[in-house]
Amino acid sequence: MTLQSTIHAIGIIGSGTMGSGIAQVAATAGSAVIVFDTNKEALEKSEKALEKILTRLVEKERITTTAKQDIQSNIRYVNNLKELKDTDLVIEAIVEDLSIKQKVFSELENYVSANTILASNTSSLSIASIASSLDKPERCIGIHFFNPAPLMKLVEVIPAVQTSKEVLQQVVSTIKNWKKVVAIAKDTPGFIVNRVARPFYGESLRIFEEGIADIPTIDTALKSIGGFRMGPFELMDFIGNDVNYTVTETVFKAFYYDPRYKPSFTQKRLSEANYLGRKTGKGYYNYNENGKISSP
Ligand code: NAI
Repeated sequence: MTLQSTIHAIGIIGSGTMGSGIAQVAATAGSAVIVFDTNKEALEKSEKALEKILTRLVEKERITTTAKQDIQSNIRYVNNLKELKDTDLVIEAIVEDLSIKQKVFSELENYVSANTILASNTSSLSIASIASSLDKPERCIGIHFFNPAPLMKLVEVIPAVQTSKEVLQQVVSTIKNWKKVVAIAKDTPGFIVNRVARPFYGESLRIFEEGIADIPTIDTALKSIGGFRMGPFELMDFIGNDVNYTVTETVFKAFYYDPRYKPSFTQKRLSEANYLGRKTGKGYYNYNENGKISSP
């Protein structure tokens, strides 16, 4: 496939947590960004959240008012997938469901040019299976940002077995231009970070379940001795117990039920009870309106 000389026009599918953050990163780097979501409220929420984030950055004198205006004018929010037709690179960040992602990608392929690169921000699905739904699977690749995307330096780039070398090269140079650190990983469950993180959460949950230490003690130990910025339970509450549990379950199954990645009933029950963490005000800890821990 013939690639564009530079990647300038970016499409983002899904204006939730990750899509909004990735849009901010690309727009800050000067790209023209079009954000698509099926849910109009999600689009409005994303636009308002960006306004709030950028206003705070101006107040802290991290960016100028002109930079804020430039970033905002670089982003357009749309409710029709066809509007992504002139993009060079599309990054999908919708619900973590293979068949839904495949459906969106195969529809998208009808609108974009033959050279548009199609990427998924999936945390745990195989890029090969997403690529397999495309007429041109060699244009498909994984670009995995971490939450919050504007602050987290690392981006994992995951070529599938079908991905062309040119697509990989172009994506790596684009992400570097966005001032991120790239780690290329093979298309395996959890890639690098989410795979290493499974036993981190899993063993912490087992230590708690076996009554070896309580939750604040485990978090304190790992922060003060382990040097982690957040303890495992604070981190699970930050990510969301629903999201975190689903990733663990997917990685566990994908590794042929290897016990190293076994999910925890403690987390499953919290997720079922809608004790998802910060976003619902209750998880391993209770949270106040400002998202700060109010009690264990
Ligand atoms: P989210 O739930 O915050 O946002 C998803 C958005 O996609 C919603 O606004 C929803 O309206 C929209 N959407 C759903 N179906 C759609 C469709 N068919 N077409 C267009 N829009 C649609 O989800 P989040 O957390 O941003 O995750 C998105 C992806 O990023 C998932 O694949 C997830 O595994 C991955 N990811 C999530 C991280 C996290 O910490 N939340 C970190 C890294 C990757």
